[in-house]
Amino acid sequence: MSRTRIAVAGAGVIGQEHCKLIGAHPEAELAGIADPAPQARDYAAGLGVPHFPDLESMLDTVAPDGVIVALPTGLHLSAGLACIARGLPSLMEKPVAATLKDGFELARASEAAGIPVLVGHHRRHSADIRLARETVARGRLGRIVTVSGMWWVDKPDAYFDVAWRREEGGGTLLINLIHDIDCMRFILGEIRRVAAFTSDRVRGLAVEDTASVSFEFESGVLGGFTISDAVASPYSWERASGQALYFPHQPENYLFIGGRDGALEVPTMEHWHHGPEGGDWQNELVRETLPLDGSQTYENQLAHFLKVIDGEETPVIDAEDGARTLAVLLAVKKAAKEGRVVEVAEMLEGV
Ligand SMILES: NC(=O)c1ccc[n+]([C@@H]2O[C@H](COP(=O)([O-])OP(=O)(O)OC[C@H]3O[C@@H](n4cnc5c(N)ncnc54)[C@H](O)[C@@H]3O)[C@@H](O)[C@H]2O)c1
Repeated sequence: MSRTRIAVAGAGVIGQEHCKLIGAHPEAELAGIADPAPQARDYAAGLGVPHFPDLESMLDTVAPDGVIVALPTGLHLSAGLACIARGLPSLMEKPVAATLKDGFELARASEAAGIPVLVGHHRRHSADIRLARETVARGRLGRIVTVSGMWWVDKPDAYFDVAWRREEGGGTLLINLIHDIDCMRFILGEIRRVAAFTSDRVRGLAVEDTASVSFEFESGVLGGFTISDAVASPYSWERASGQALYFPHQPENYLFIGGRDGALEVPTMEHWHHGPEGGDWQNELVRETLPLDGSQTYENQLAHFLKVIDGEETPVIDAEDGARTLAVLLAVKKAAKEGRVVEVAEMLEGV
């Protein structure tokens, strides 16, 4: 059986992880690496794969079956269009693009050419997030009323030595909250409007280190989420789930979903409910642990991308869906900046 040949553009932090995942997959093969950095050339040589200074020359030389784009976000649109022009499916790292205009331009190009773009919101492939969505969809919590979550981690000071992480767009909203927003959209549906506060009080950089956000979903569900990259805690999906690449596993929860008939803690998947007899606040609740399938999210993402390349599956999150997640994130930023409630529809006008 011939392996699916995947090229990687950008061999930085996440690009190298993709290279490792491809190397470990029995049905995939790393076709080449494009990255102008000298260390990327050495990295490619170490793996014994062709190295190119730019994406286009790599695509035209190695003719891969698919491409993983792990470039700085500002280059996503041009890289995505280069793949589409050559008929190549891509796995585009998140956020789908630097602006909504770029995100929707990529979505339209993908749609018009019939060439899929899978966006790298890897949590959508995680067993806990998938099970949370299924549990809600099956009505096991009854009508959903509210959701509450947190993402509290302590990034080291050295993380901010990289210039772009101290500049507009490098803060915890666009880097981290975007994943939580995507999960909430995936599990609970579209978000109608948001209100938010942000703070840079801990580090005093030009980017936020902490934020609190209120959401109203189109279903009427109300939710709240707090995020900080300056807190020592186990309350983040990465640490709590044990699914992320660079975090120790310390089982905890980061998301709580509340319905008329029960509540769900994610990712421990504790399902609290009254049992067959029913009851109310005066009665004890039953705690049931919903079983996870033990799969790993980044491996699942790659397996899905291979099926997208083969035409067996359509992207779990395509460029348009990725752009809609970006729209909510940008609504959060606008709400905090302007001190008002922002409708997500307002962000989507004219794009
Ligand atoms: N899904 C995830 O878990 C996850 C994690 C980290 C980053 N990301 C996303 O992945 C993307 C990359 O982030 P990163 O942290 O790996 O960044 P990075 O800075 O570590 O790596 C980017 C790489 O791209 C290379 N590059 C720059 N310009 C190039 C060009 N024109 N052609 C080819 N290569 C070029 C750089 O030399 C660098 O090696 C971003 O969009 C980020 O948001 C996703």
